[in-house]
Amino acid sequence: MQFSSDAGTAMGSGPNWLVTPATEISGSLSVPGDKSISHRALMLGGIADGCSTITGLLRGEDVLATMKAMRAMGVRIDELDPQSLRVHGSGYAALNAATEPLDLGNSGTAMRLFMGLLCGLPFPTILTGDESLRSRPMERVAKPLRAMGAGISTTEGHAPVTLHGGRRLAGIDYEMPVASAQVKSAILLAAIPAGGITRLIEPHPSRDHTEIMLQQFGVRLERNGNAVSLAGGQSLRGTEVAIPGDISSAAFLIVAALLARKGRLLLRNVGINPTRTAVLDVLRAMGGKIEVKLLAGRDAEPRGDIVVFPSELRAIRIDAAMVPRLIDELPVIFVAAAAAQGTTHVDGAAELRVKESDRLASMSAGLANLGVEHHLAGDSIAITGGEINGGRVESFGDHRIAMAFAVAAMRASGPIHIADVRNVATSFPDFASLARHSGLPVQECS
Ligand code: S3P
Repeated sequence: MQFSSDAGTAMGSGPNWLVTPATEISGSLSVPGDKSISHRALMLGGIADGCSTITGLLRGEDVLATMKAMRAMGVRIDELDPQSLRVHGSGYAALNAATEPLDLGNSGTAMRLFMGLLCGLPFPTILTGDESLRSRPMERVAKPLRAMGAGISTTEGHAPVTLHGGRRLAGIDYEMPVASAQVKSAILLAAIPAGGITRLIEPHPSRDHTEIMLQQFGVRLERNGNAVSLAGGQSLRGTEVAIPGDISSAAFLIVAALLARKGRLLLRNVGINPTRTAVLDVLRAMGGKIEVKLLAGRDAEPRGDIVVFPSELRAIRIDAAMVPRLIDELPVIFVAAAAAQGTTHVDGAAELRVKESDRLASMSAGLANLGVEHHLAGDSIAITGGEINGGRVESFGDHRIAMAFAVAAMRASGPIHIADVRNVATSFPDFASLARHSGLPVQECS
């Protein structure tokens, strides 16, 4: 077969999946902890004064890279049981220089948040990652941090990144050219040890886990629409962080359950922060039957149980303003579109081109291999629902592409073979077993 795309860095061959079509998705399950919140909990716990207890941390490779990096800087992290950890923070100034470059694997979130978190330290730090991460843009973070006074060198705009350290940072007023929670978070983290006030404004709202968690750790900040401001020089107090299930992981099972002909799927304890739930809004607008029951509690992040029923979907239009709130769910929304009636249009999705792979190109290549009619032009894609053939697709070393095409098997006329699914371990290590458990036969194969 031919892989006819320039989607991105293929990460070499890992295990493959063979996913056979299925008609029923049912059961009750919990998805693993939220990846974004897990990174932030380890970082903020590590710079707080006093101990923090974290429950529900995602044990995926990306988050484990953050945990290893925090330990490399001298933070003690005890694993209390498979569900909980204790992070012994002694304040920002207690972080030590790592003896080697911090290797953040495949994680763009770890790399960008660490750039902000560590650029105010008195010593240098080198951040690096795998081949895919070393191809992703880092100047979008380096530029505003330099404007705060940080010394940062990128490698032609990419990692390895050297944070020179030993500079006094000062707050900035910054209008972000791109809505990106990673860029916003890096600046907010750099603002903590900086002198003066940092004010940020985003073109569209992106996930606000950093703002919520900073407040949980006792930092005062002001929020007004798409703007946030923070006075530097504040310290963090250790606290308890309960991490809900990751709605971005849940999205794959939600779409599988919508595409089923029968069954009922309950996903327990999923994070339903409104900056992350646009995927539910979109799928409902497409005709998806989804019920959400808000769980009571005093958690900083809202959580809920989600029940999904088989549904006939229809096309939808998604514009640039919605994209940041469903950025990680777009690959599986493309699969929903491939099974929906009519033509779905997605515009302003340029950010998909700079993820773990170029997700517009990766999805286009796979949809083409499965005979799905679609048209990709610049930052826009139009997908016409109808027959989905069985066939072979490539993951392009990207977890969300692999899982999206596994879900496509729900409505395919034959099995789908997905090449190189190793990267799924970064965000959803149990995907194959949970999918099988609920009725989607995902088998490892050669
Ligand atoms: C993330 C932000 C998003 C998302 C990524 C996690 C975060 O990226 O794609 O998976 O944890 O802040 P951008 O908001 O930078 O596009």
